[in-house]
Amino acid sequence: MHRRKDLWGPDAEEFDPDRFLDERLHKYLIPKPFIFLPFNAGPRICLGQQFAYNEMSFMLIRLLQTFSSITLAPEAQHPDTRPPTEWAQAEGRKARERFRPKSHLTLYADGGLWVRMNEAENA
Ligand code: HEM
Repeated sequence: MHRRKDLWGPDAEEFDPDRFLDERLHKYLIPKPFIFLPFNAGPRICLGQQFAYNEMSFMLIRLLQTFSSITLAPEAQHPDTRPPTEWAQAEGRKARERFRPKSHLTLYADGGLWVRMNEAENA
């Protein structure tokens, strides 16, 4: 649902958090809040949404302050969980995936998302 072009626009498949800040916010999400459902929407929307955003922002900031670089390490990933070779011929986003996204209750990386991190000098 969160990758549907009819709901999110032609660039729906791109990872671009700016869509929550720029004119796309007013074009897509504000008129139809039920298109974004990690916390559900409406009267039973998650009570902890803003708290969860705060926690995540703090964690991300601390991570970026502590490490000078974070890069994908596909060689560390178990071969069975790398994107299958036939994906290279697939349509759209699939052909560009560098890890294997899977969906369950939430979206996750099959086998984990293996990365190499360098500690920042003045961390
Ligand atoms: C990434 C973190 C979180 C996600 C994705 C999430 C997601 C959700 C979802 C999908 C619901 C169900 C809404 C419904 O029944 O329609 C919910 C309900 C709820 N969440 Fe969260 N939640 C998160 C974090 C938190 C935190 C940190 C708290 C509290 C500090 C919290 C408190 C609640 C409460 C109290 C409800 C019940 C609201 C109600 O039934 O009226 N959540 N959450």
